[in-house]
Amino acid sequence: MSLLFLILLSLLFASGVSSLPVTTIGVTYNPSRVAHHPPSPDHVASRIQSSLKLFSAVRLPDPDPATIRAFAYSNISLLLNVPNSLLPALAANASAAKLWLYTHVLPFYPRARISTISVGSDALLDPDVADPDLRLLPALRNLHRSLRDLGIHSIAVSTTFSFVHVITTAFPPSAAEFQQPLADLLVKPLLQFLDQTNSSFLINLHPYSVYSLNHDIPIGYALFQEEPFSFRDDPLTGVRYRNLFDTMVDAVISAMAVAGHENIPVIVTETGWPSDDDSNYSEMYIKGLIRHLRSGLGTPLRKEGVAETYIYQLLDAPDDKNQSQRQNWGILYPNMTNKYHIDFSASNSIIAGGGGGRLIWVFVAVWLLH
Ligand SMILES: *[C@@H]1O[C@H](CO)[C@@H](O)[C@H](O)[C@H]1NC(C)=O
Ligand SMILES: *[C@@H]1O[C@H](CO)[C@@H](O)[C@H](O)[C@H]1NC(C)=O
Ligand SMILES: *[C@@H]1O[C@H](CO)[C@@H](O)[C@H](O)[C@H]1NC(C)=O
Repeated sequence: MSLLFLILLSLLFASGVSSLPVTTIGVTYNPSRVAHHPPSPDHVASRIQSSLKLFSAVRLPDPDPATIRAFAYSNISLLLNVPNSLLPALAANASAAKLWLYTHVLPFYPRARISTISVGSDALLDPDVADPDLRLLPALRNLHRSLRDLGIHSIAVSTTFSFVHVITTAFPPSAAEFQQPLADLLVKPLLQFLDQTNSSFLINLHPYSVYSLNHDIPIGYALFQEEPFSFRDDPLTGVRYRNLFDTMVDAVISAMAVAGHENIPVIVTETGWPSDDDSNYSEMYIKGLIRHLRSGLGTPLRKEGVAETYIYQLLDAPDDKNQSQRQNWGILYPNMTNKYHIDFSASNSIIAGGGGGRLIWVFVAVWLLH
C-alpha cells in the first residue's frame, strides 16, 4: 500500500507539479508623464516590491539614471528604451552608443537587472526621425557591439513595433504577414539579427486598438470573457481562439514564420485598456489578461506563450500617443492608490492547471486503499 502511495506521489511530481513556463508579467512605468506631484522612483520601486509582487519586470520607456538606480538591488528586471531622437546618432557611430551606455547602464550594472534594451519604439512612425528604416538596424548593431565591447553579454538588444502598424491582419492569424515594403526592407534583416544575438521580438499589442477599429468583434472576446460562443476558428488551420490577445499573438508568430524566423521569443511591450469609456472594461481586461498569463496555457501556435508581457501602464497619465483624447491607461491613480479591485500582491510563481486536481486524486486513492 505504501508502495502504491509512493508510485502515485512520484506520478504527481513527474506530471502535475512540474510547472509550465509562465510568462513574466511586468508593467510600464513612465515617471515623466505623470502630471502633478509624481511619486518618486524610489517610492514606486519599493511599492512594487512590497505590494505589487505580481510584477517582476518594469519597462521604462524614457529611462533616466535616477529611475534606473531606484531598481538596483531589487529582483525586478528592467526593459530600457532608447528614445527615438537618439537613433540618428546611434546609427552614425558607436561612440554615441557607448555614451548612452556609460550613463544608463554601466553605473548600475549588474546591480540593476537590465534584461533588454529597445532601440527606439515605433520609430518608423516618428516624424522627427528622418529615414528611420535606414537607421534602425545600424543603431541596433552599434549598441549591441558597444555592449559586447564593454564585456556585457547578458543584455539583449531589440526595437519595438506596434501591431497595428506592422502586421497585415489580426484575423485569421495564419494569414498575417509583416506589411510590405517594410517586411523585406527592415523586418527580415531585423529578425535575422535577433536570431543571431538571442534577442526577442518586441511588440506593442493592444486588443483595444483592434477592437476599436472592428466593431464586429464581440467585446467579451476582447476582454477574456469565457462565454460559450465567444470563440473564432481560424478557417485555414482549424485552430480555435477564445480571446483577441491570443489571436494577435499568433498573428505575430505567423508573420515571423512567413519571414522565416518563427522561433524568436516574443515580448509584449505594451498591452492595456483605457478607463475613460468604461472603467469596467479596463478592469475586466487587466483581470482576464493576468488570469490568462498565469494559466501557463500559452497560445495555440506558441505553447510556451509570450516570454514577457508588460501591462500598460502603472500610473494614470495623459496618453502618450493621443494627446487630444487624454485617455487614462493606468492601473493605479497618480497618488498610487488602486483604481480597480485587482490583487497585484501575489507573485507570479504559478503552478500549472491540473496540479491541484492530481493531488486530490492521490488522496482519494490513498483513502480508498485504507
Ligand atoms: C560620433 O558621435 C559622437 C557622440 O555623439 C560625436 O561627438 C562625434 O562627432 C561623432 N562622430 C562622427 C564621425 O560622426
Ligand atoms: C544563444 O544561446 C545559445 C543557447 O543558450 C548559446 O549556445 C549561444 O552561444 C547564444 N548565442 C549568442 C550569440 O549569445
Ligand atoms: C487618490 O487619487 C484618487 C483619484 O484622483 C482619489 O479619488 C483618491 O481619493 C486619492 N487618495 C488619496 C489617499 O489621496
